[in-house]
Amino acid sequence: MKRISLTQYLVEEQRQNNTIPAELRLLIEVVARACKTISHAVGKGALGEVLGTADTENVQGEVQKKLDIISNEILLEANEWGGHLAAMASEEMETIHPIPNRYPKGEYMLTFDPLDGSSNIDVNVSIGTIFSVLKAPEGMGEPTEEAFMQPGTKQVAAGYAVYGPQTMLVLTTGNGVNCFTLDREMGSWVLTQRDMKIPAKTKEFAINMSNARHWHAPVKRYVDELLEGENGPRGTNFNMRWVASMVADVHRILNRGGIFMYPADTRDTSMPGKLRLMYEANPMAFIVEQAGGAATDGQQRILDIQPHKLHQRVPVFLGSRDEVAVVTGYHQG
Ligand code: AHG
Ligand code: MN
Ligand code: MN
Repeated sequence: MKRISLTQYLVEEQRQNNTIPAELRLLIEVVARACKTISHAVGKGALGEVLGTADTENVQGEVQKKLDIISNEILLEANEWGGHLAAMASEEMETIHPIPNRYPKGEYMLTFDPLDGSSNIDVNVSIGTIFSVLKAPEGMGEPTEEAFMQPGTKQVAAGYAVYGPQTMLVLTTGNGVNCFTLDREMGSWVLTQRDMKIPAKTKEFAINMSNARHWHAPVKRYVDELLEGENGPRGTNFNMRWVASMVADVHRILNRGGIFMYPADTRDTSMPGKLRLMYEANPMAFIVEQAGGAATDGQQRILDIQPHKLHQRVPVFLGSRDEVAVVTGYHQG
């Protein structure tokens, strides 16, 4: 089998479709290299003294794990010096991180969830990294948080790495979705799946059922109907999966279909859902749409939402088109 590396894929994509300018290519390669480093740290586990909590909290009041901080540092350091970025923002940092003055600045802005699925780190279950790339607004001087407030439709690239039995990188630059597997001996990303497509129909759903008593009526109705199986209104049995790492749940859906939900609920209306728009929902929605699926907040397309703060949360319904349409319809109806 002829192996196509991430570099070769990016160069050829630029040549044929003109979707990846040189600076964006550098950015993607740098992020991919950082993910390789994170994957290595993850793989060491206790031997690398990377497990456990760091005894600090992030701006969202979540206790940080050592790997949350290590991964954040790896991504920051890797992306500071290349000249491709104007600023970065991360789940683990309260404010944006402008590129230090000692380095040249570029036209892109990067947001990331350095380590997704933190509750799974210490139990050796799949975790990952999610990232999203925006362009800096025309004529931007000093980068501001305001510059990041662009809807997901403006993303020029998005991707995630999943650190599981294999380490994989799933990437879109707006021209379909491709998957690369890390060759751990060679240290290179090899193209292993081209043009991933999510089946429009599915019989598998993913939601944290322990929150059922807090759900709003449309989500209750939708999940109840799935649970009724072949004797209910859907006339068929549905299966359930919940890894509690969005990367792993989305990766399964990209491969065999399914619907993933993290709804808002009745608990804290100032906090609609758990997932964050800028570095979780938007990049995943971009990837899912590029693979022929759909992603909404129950009312509208996630990618159309105008953000108003960096760490804004959003309800998420994504995956196989037909199921996302059903649950979104229940919200709108
Ligand atoms: P993070 O580890 O970056 O904070 O994200 C965790 C998220 C997401 O990956 C997952 O889908 C969800 O939290 C799981 O939430 P529950 O623990 O409520 O199931
Ligand atoms: Mn996350
Ligand atoms: Mn995280």
